[in-house]
Amino acid sequence: MDQVLNYGKHWIDKDDISEILKVLNSDFITQGPCIANFESAMADYLGAQYAVAVANGTAALHLAVKALNLEQGMEGITSPITFVASSNCFLYNGLKPVFADIEKNTYCIDPIQIERRLSSKTAVIVPVHFAGQPCEMDQISSLALKNRISIIEDAAHAIGSRYKNGKKVGSCYCSQMTIFSFHPVKTIATGEGGLITTNTQKIYEKLLQIRNHGITKDQSKFNLLPSMSEPGPWYYEMQELGFNYRMTDIQAALGMSQLKKIDSFIKRRRQIVDAYNNAFVDFDWLTTPYEAENVFSAFHLYVLKIDFEKINKSRTQVMQELRSKGVGTQVHYIPVHLQPYYRKHFGYQIGDYPQSEHYYQQCLSIPLYPKMTDKDVMRVIQAVSGILT
Ligand SMILES: Cc1ncc(COP(=O)(O)O)c(C=O)c1O
Repeated sequence: MDQVLNYGKHWIDKDDISEILKVLNSDFITQGPCIANFESAMADYLGAQYAVAVANGTAALHLAVKALNLEQGMEGITSPITFVASSNCFLYNGLKPVFADIEKNTYCIDPIQIERRLSSKTAVIVPVHFAGQPCEMDQISSLALKNRISIIEDAAHAIGSRYKNGKKVGSCYCSQMTIFSFHPVKTIATGEGGLITTNTQKIYEKLLQIRNHGITKDQSKFNLLPSMSEPGPWYYEMQELGFNYRMTDIQAALGMSQLKKIDSFIKRRRQIVDAYNNAFVDFDWLTTPYEAENVFSAFHLYVLKIDFEKINKSRTQVMQELRSKGVGTQVHYIPVHLQPYYRKHFGYQIGDYPQSEHYYQQCLSIPLYPKMTDKDVMRVIQAVSGILT
């Protein structure tokens, strides 16, 4: 049998490899010129003023929340239907994670549910642009403005997506920061890798500093010992507690090369989505992804909602059946509030977020990535169509 198709996969070609080799043969394999070049190309592509490249999307979330200088004990709100990193960033920063249920159609966080969960302690909202679909940012930002709450958009799934107003996700038109991930299943890959965009200079400078141990080499910011009249050329200061969350030049060169192909990657993703949507349109036992009017999704995932009761098969049976036909699948996601850690430490339980829990019972992601051939796409369509036979 042909290799099993994964639900997502990177596409590295000979141009990418040649860019990586250039770095490997150069003087710097990390902290060289590629990182600033990649940051500036990403900022241009996304329409933001500043971009900071980091080790991965989780580090991006950690730093983004830290850059807001929030008081310990405050609360952050995100969606239960996301990867655990979207809410773990609150825990890293001493905030309490609070969830707001998802919308029925888009599977993104529901602004009405956010409003229900607001408290005097709410300090930040992390809307996740699930599967590539942008959240209702106008409504979320008006809530945030009214209540003096910051927004960090989790756009790990949404590089290249556009809001209703045509602006790109990542332009931060209504948020303090947006984060991205370049994990191999994402739209572009750097192995591990992440990025934060912002339009605020102060946040940008803070991010640069905490990405690198909290160290600055900027003389104008030095806090010199009284005995030191002038800093020497070796001198640097650690002014706050930071991390080593730097991206390497090897990764940045790969990111730069991948960025050149991003629009063709997204085009191919959307072609495959159209093929799936057309093939499954008449199946009354499944629901295909919904793209809200006037938005543009870069489609990181293709999530089917399957009525397993109606077809009298369990999800495990369906996954095994599809796998036997060379089609890998995955569940995105187990609701975060139901993870043992969250249940134990915050008392969350079944029934807290009904829409998310109902979605979780039915969701199944099928393969979607630009390197899929038409034959691969046909294989998936035939395998899914065969579930009922
Ligand atoms: C929505 C979301 N946010 C954040 C992350 C974390 O990104 P990374 O794996 O690069 O740390 C992921 C990764 O899958 C994700 O899906």
